[in-house]
Amino acid sequence: MGKKIFSGVQPTGNLHLGNYIGAIKNFVELQNQKDNNCVFCVVDLHAITVKQDPKTLKDNIRETTAAFLASGIDPEKSIIFNQSLVSAHAEGSWMLGCVARMGWLNRMTQFKEKAGKDKEKASIGLYIYPVLMAADILLYDATHVPVGEDQKQHLELSRDIAQKFNLDFNVPNFLKVPEPLIKKNFSRIMSLKDGTKKMSKSDPSDLSRINLTDSKEEIVNKIKKAKTDTRPFPENEKDLNKRPEVENLLGIYSSLNNQSLKNSINEFAGKNFSEFKEKLSEIVVEKIYPISKEINKLQKDNNFIDDVLKVGSEKAGAIASEKVKKMKEILGF
Ligand code: TYM
Repeated sequence: MGKKIFSGVQPTGNLHLGNYIGAIKNFVELQNQKDNNCVFCVVDLHAITVKQDPKTLKDNIRETTAAFLASGIDPEKSIIFNQSLVSAHAEGSWMLGCVARMGWLNRMTQFKEKAGKDKEKASIGLYIYPVLMAADILLYDATHVPVGEDQKQHLELSRDIAQKFNLDFNVPNFLKVPEPLIKKNFSRIMSLKDGTKKMSKSDPSDLSRINLTDSKEEIVNKIKKAKTDTRPFPENEKDLNKRPEVENLLGIYSSLNNQSLKNSINEFAGKNFSEFKEKLSEIVVEKIYPISKEINKLQKDNNFIDDVLKVGSEKAGAIASEKVKKMKEILGF
């Protein structure tokens, strides 16, 4: 039997190579495997957990949708929609929020990072964000959720919430307990400027990340400037120890070439970094620049994008509202 896949990406601008390698590239692979049913969501309700300019949000919803399409997600094969068009997500989230425990949410490291020192001023939405994420997944009976490493804890919470709901209301297996799909080695792409920091949309330095909308020149320039170290090119995987920048660049190279880290090291062992960086630029340009070009093209046709989202949200809404209806019956409404 095929897998039921659900995943989401926030429309908060600056989609980057980390989002691509950690998530979107895998979405496309899963979509193209036989018998899988895939749902990919632009999670705009998650985006508003921090302040958004409404006009920019609208542009970013379309840009994230364009990035899905440009990367190869096909609306004929997968459901593509934005969360706010399907009200069942908000309803489901409320019901699951009454099952989830404060103690569980208090452990979420992403909330602590995002809220920073002054967590009294963080929105309630930011705090209960992982409950909405659980609703996203559980409303579709997703069996597998492809994400980057940073979402692992949130997925574990989704599993806990599903199990507690089933237990509390004595409905074994009603909510399906989802499995995370996290690619070993390639699930945490780091900043090009600091191999100990995650590549992130919010890094003030644009040189720290390759955006999915970068031009060829920008890609080449950023890789040229990417940090390495003064030691010779590694000879084997052990040589990567305590060399986060080199490990990261090799990870990017390996993932885009669909080969193991070991094979990439063998390919360049004995050579110098400039040769490696040249090949790295070539593969990033080859894989990312066509996406960038297509995003630009798609963004000229808002009607097309809005239509994809509308059609997708009707399909998604049919599934999610059915599940919410059953949840309501179980709760006694
Ligand atoms: P978001 O929008 O922050 O990121 C989207 C996806 O990209 C992955 N990612 C990375 N992977 C590798 N290296 C990186 N540097 C990197 N940065 C980001 C993320 O792990 C994610 O898979 N809460 C989620 C969105 C969400 C969701 C869901 C995901 C909402 N509902 C249901 C799965 C299922 C988020 O904020 O992702």
